[in-house]
Amino acid sequence: MNILVTGGTGYIGSLTSLRLLEAGHRPVLLDNLCNSHPAVLDRIATLGGSRPQFVQGDVRDRALLERVLAEAQIDAVIHFAALKAVGESVAQPLAYYDNNVNGTLALLHAMQTVGVRNLVFSSSATVYGAAEQMPLYEDAPLSATNPYGQSKLMVEHMLADLAVADPRWSLTALRYFNPVGAHPSGLMGEHPQGVPNNLMPYIAQVAVGQRASLRVFGNTYPTPDGTGVRDFIHVMDLADGHLAALQHGVGRPGLHVFNLGSGQGHSVLEVLAAFGQACGKNLPFDIVPPRPGDVASSWADPRRAREMLGWHTTRSLADMCADTWRWQSTHPQGYSV
Ligand code: NAD
Ligand code: UD1
Repeated sequence: MNILVTGGTGYIGSLTSLRLLEAGHRPVLLDNLCNSHPAVLDRIATLGGSRPQFVQGDVRDRALLERVLAEAQIDAVIHFAALKAVGESVAQPLAYYDNNVNGTLALLHAMQTVGVRNLVFSSSATVYGAAEQMPLYEDAPLSATNPYGQSKLMVEHMLADLAVADPRWSLTALRYFNPVGAHPSGLMGEHPQGVPNNLMPYIAQVAVGQRASLRVFGNTYPTPDGTGVRDFIHVMDLADGHLAALQHGVGRPGLHVFNLGSGQGHSVLEVLAAFGQACGKNLPFDIVPPRPGDVASSWADPRRAREMLGWHTTRSLADMCADTWRWQSTHPQGYSV
């Protein structure tokens, strides 16, 4: 299939594009490069055997989208393009609603005009809000605790309404838990700009000596060791999940919602210890007060994806740490060098 991948040079989009190539699809990547580097295209070419078509542009540019959808004879779209930093979304809500909600609206309009009605959308476990009942299953109540989460929820509502209004659409929302890791070659991975907000990139920067020590946000949560527990998912498992969702969704009308997680939680201290094993160092940490808005625990009920997509995670926490370390230690500045 010809697949338009918005946000295709980003962390998850680039690795999913590589998997699409490897599976015999033709990905067309569209990205405005606001949070990614074009050098990733060379890496996809090296690992995937051919260089995907790349369009530098914005998902809010409806005319551009219509042209690309038509000219490349796109069969389905995987929509990654979005802003994703929770703290930034609180400071700049309009930028988040514009990129994430308006961007998706423009994309859906363009798809409707051209007659492409297969979409896979990057949602997030953040749509479960501050839920306390674990595991999280797809029918659990939804809410948002910040503008980023609200933007994902708004898009999910848009997709649900569209599925009701026009039964020709196949719309799949994938709720990712905590994506981490890198390509096992160490050639592709995540390089956040500035100080990392998320746990694994922060630990990786401590391991290469770019940051002094990990600040552990709270150790009095009701969890086995008192630190936060999350469902970490290897980005290559996540990429495989997109292939499975595409295979399931294309030509199957309706709204399809899946958790993509392992179903298993790991604490902050467990992740730190596993990373220490991977890099062969004892990594320093300090306990600091909890981060506002954090929940104690979050992990998926992954059964629906297993039963309906035939997909489940296969990579362990040790794999996630080893692959992140391989990438971080060889690319401390990401794709810039
Ligand atoms: P990323 O920032 O690495 O990738 C997103 C890409 O979209 C970037 O390359 C950026 O340049 C591009 N982009 C942003 N706005 C755009 C616009 N208006 N037009 C064109 N391109 C634009 O992020 P990622 O981690 O790969 O996340 C991909 C998707 O998955 C996002 O929708 C994100 O919200 C969602 N998600 C990510 C996580 C995570 O932890 N990484 C968790 C849950 C959901
Ligand atoms: C965060 C976002 C969530 C988003 C997800 C993407 C918040 C409140 N939530 O989730 O919306 O979908 O990223 O993966 O930002 N931790 C530390 N020290 C650090 C960083 C994190 O102790 O320097 C702890 C956190 O308190 C948490 C765990 O590590 O217990 C995981 O944090 P993080 O990687 O930021 O992910 P989430 O908070 O789950």
